[in-house]
Amino acid sequence: MTPKTFKIKSFGCQMNVYDGERMAELLADHGMAPAPDGEDAELVVLNTCHIREKAAEKAYSDVGRLRRDDGSKPIVALAGCVAQAEGAEAKRRSSLIDIVVGPQAYHRLPDMVVQASKGARPVDTDMPAISKFDALPPRRKAAPSAFLSIQEGCDKFCTYCVVPYTRGAEISRPWDHVLTEAQSLVEAGARELVLLGQNVNAWTDGERGLAELIRAIARIDGLERIRYTTSHPADMTDALIAAHAEVDKLMPYLHLPVQSGSDRILRAMNRSHTTETYLAVIEKMRQARSDIALSGDFIVGFPGETDEDFEATLRIVDAVGYAAAYSFKYSARPGTPAATMEDQIAREIMDERLQELQNRINAHQLAFNQSKVGCDTQVLIERRGKLHGQMIGRSPWLQSVHVETPAQPGDIIDITLVAAGPNSMSGAVRAKEAA
Ligand code: 5AD
Ligand code: SF4
Repeated sequence: MTPKTFKIKSFGCQMNVYDGERMAELLADHGMAPAPDGEDAELVVLNTCHIREKAAEKAYSDVGRLRRDDGSKPIVALAGCVAQAEGAEAKRRSSLIDIVVGPQAYHRLPDMVVQASKGARPVDTDMPAISKFDALPPRRKAAPSAFLSIQEGCDKFCTYCVVPYTRGAEISRPWDHVLTEAQSLVEAGARELVLLGQNVNAWTDGERGLAELIRAIARIDGLERIRYTTSHPADMTDALIAAHAEVDKLMPYLHLPVQSGSDRILRAMNRSHTTETYLAVIEKMRQARSDIALSGDFIVGFPGETDEDFEATLRIVDAVGYAAAYSFKYSARPGTPAATMEDQIAREIMDERLQELQNRINAHQLAFNQSKVGCDTQVLIERRGKLHGQMIGRSPWLQSVHVETPAQPGDIIDITLVAAGPNSMSGAVRAKEAA
């Protein structure tokens, strides 16, 4: 019997969230329905992330928990980047796993579910030349802020990173396909599109790049906001920077990972930018759009990182004044060049550096939020808050804003930012000005 209900759990990055939504649509198209809250699903898909340590271990322990008290179990599909990395090995490590499906092969999931329900244990970690996107059903549902994958994979080969291995080579989806999906997401209710890619700013179709694509997407009626993530400093073109000055719907926010403030470490990471070229991009961006909110990623404790290198990282945090940033302890990933480098850093040192870096980032985040108090702006309402009558939305700078309002998800409302916390803002509805 093929299962009638499913549950998909996505871990890790936004691209996995997007893939999870597409898998849900695909399964729905094949006659399955999401399991009601609190009920066991007949099919469980674990859409996993492999970026940092113990990812595989965590996935296997999540799989273990799917065995029910009476000894029965759902059909279990291991999907995402752990599935890609582990392949058929996953079936040997856990007898609970029925299906192993990689991020480029999940359009075949319904077929694999049928096979699994007949007792087979299919594995598909191909990276087919024909895009999975061509085999997926059209979009019919969209959140007020919807994800849209436009580029996948990575050719940069930073020495710490598994992405080039798990997601494969850099591939851009064609212009027409992206515009068609964008249009259907807007028709399905999206007011904001977040264009996704591991190297989204390297998106290209012939002569056209992300800047042209954003200008075309901005012409879709009913769409009010555009964002994109994640960008590589080496691919920030002048055309894209100019789009920030000229396209009103393009939000003033840029996630631009730098990873380290030390040129020596950036070289060892094979980042193909220096602190100087990174800061030059930021400077140009600020000239194009003075209010741009900047965010970044950092790794502490990369092999060979000295106290001086780490001090340099703190300095670049101060120099940029990030509105938000994400920081991670270096995690040696099997098969990556950095995993076998000398001078791996002791855990205690990484812990200390991470704490210090996060304190510094938090201070900048709070300062950025405080700088917006008193500002009249707009929020896109996304969901209900905890308190009665309270809704939560996003400012143009991607701050989470709590506001008391009868407005509903998908509404864009005029507010004044009235108070700042380290992780969110409070807003007050602005009365419409008299005509
Ligand atoms: N260890 C720690 N952090 C990593 N990242 C990627 N690979 C590793 C690793 N091996 C971080 C980088 C990247 C973010 C998505 O995850 O900062 O930008
Ligand atoms: Fe990984 Fe570097 Fe590619 Fe980002 S640019 S996905 S960090 S290899």
